[in-house]
Amino acid sequence: MRYDSITQVIGNTPLVRIDPEVHGLRHIDLYAKLEMLNPFGSVKDRAAWNMARPGLATAMERGSQLVELSSGNTAKALSVIAGMHGLSFKSVTNRMRIPEIKDLLLLLGAEIEELPGQSECLDPTDTEDPLTLFHRALSDPDSAYLHTDQYFNARNTEAHALGTGPEIVKDLDGRVPDWFIACVGTAGSSTGVARALREHDSRVRVVGLVADKSDFIPGIRTIDEVHEVGLFDPATYDTMEPVTADEAIDGMLTLARRCGILAGPTGGAAYFGTVRQLRAADAALTDGDERQAAVFIVCDRIESYLSYVKQRRPELIGLAARKNSLLDVSAAELAAVVTVGAREAQEWIAREQPLVIDLRSPSAYAALHIEHAVNITDELFAELVRGGLPFSRRKPVLLTCPVGDRSARYAALLSRMGHTDARSLDGGIIAWRDAGAPLVRE
Ligand SMILES: Cc1ncc(COP(=O)(O)O)c(C=O)c1O
Repeated sequence: MRYDSITQVIGNTPLVRIDPEVHGLRHIDLYAKLEMLNPFGSVKDRAAWNMARPGLATAMERGSQLVELSSGNTAKALSVIAGMHGLSFKSVTNRMRIPEIKDLLLLLGAEIEELPGQSECLDPTDTEDPLTLFHRALSDPDSAYLHTDQYFNARNTEAHALGTGPEIVKDLDGRVPDWFIACVGTAGSSTGVARALREHDSRVRVVGLVADKSDFIPGIRTIDEVHEVGLFDPATYDTMEPVTADEAIDGMLTLARRCGILAGPTGGAAYFGTVRQLRAADAALTDGDERQAAVFIVCDRIESYLSYVKQRRPELIGLAARKNSLLDVSAAELAAVVTVGAREAQEWIAREQPLVIDLRSPSAYAALHIEHAVNITDELFAELVRGGLPFSRRKPVLLTCPVGDRSARYAALLSRMGHTDARSLDGGIIAWRDAGAPLVRE
């Protein structure tokens, strides 16, 4: 195999059968579409190249900067594509949560701009969040940027409708699988593949997997967040199912240790979600039925997610098992949390001067916060409490976050650890602002 450019290596990824001994389905053949083997490492190489290509010549003439709202694989692929064409690339994001990917983007020459997201944006004079405003500025035809616009760009979906989907049918000797399962981020890959498969055979059942709300899975959205995506159409999916971070890691382990497929968390989530979904269908089939086929997508590779795994399952890398983790907070502990509304909180602060901890990002905190609040980001606070209570158990504490969900979990965790008065701001900083309570700017 000889090529003139690395971009020609994008696509035509292998379809690998998973050993039935591993998945345990008796009447369904399960295949993994290995998008992790694209040259820049993920399923997003196809979309990035298809979206950037038409604008590259003009961008090179004008010296425009390539820009995308991405903190992961799309940014990685676009950094490389920009560099290959003598352009710079800027990744705009509301929080870089995977340190290895941030480091890699910087190594590849990307500029990173972190802005507070919708739920963290608090300036009452701004009716819209910075990411939305930025997005609008980029869509201006006179913009000095080449904006690939992955959440709305039809060429994202097209890359998969013309590439990934037809490749699956070809590799199954012209047969459309009975099931197609994919994780949903921008929805480009699932929508494009589903479209191509349905054109051949409308009976294919399409399962979209999203992250369970209890924890994030890098690269994909929760069921609430997918509705903000321009390319997302609920009609694409026969069903949508959540997968937890723990389940994704279990799936990763099986793929890596038993199948030799070094997949990242969304590959693990896809495998786990697929097997769980197909168990009932498999049980309903008999030896006399025609065998069915199912395909799931392995989006990227394992290596960038070692710190993600380490935080959640330290015992997998030889460290002590996790303790004091938010993931272990039970529904009963959560129900027992003392939450206070804005008015009550203001009185409490004036009376007892609790330590007010703001769990949002530094940029959101800098924009506006409760006076005297200390900014300890969610990730940093998780790390602190892992080592034990970071302050006296008798010091009253008011925890705050954008909408009051994370702060309630931390309050439950602190109570379990023996803290005597940890409360959560009901409805978070958003409710505080809506109640007209005072906020200060740094
Ligand atoms: C690791 C990973 N998995 C899955 C997806 C989802 O792919 P799509 O954006 O096509 O829905 C992405 C998208 O960024 C991703 O980075």
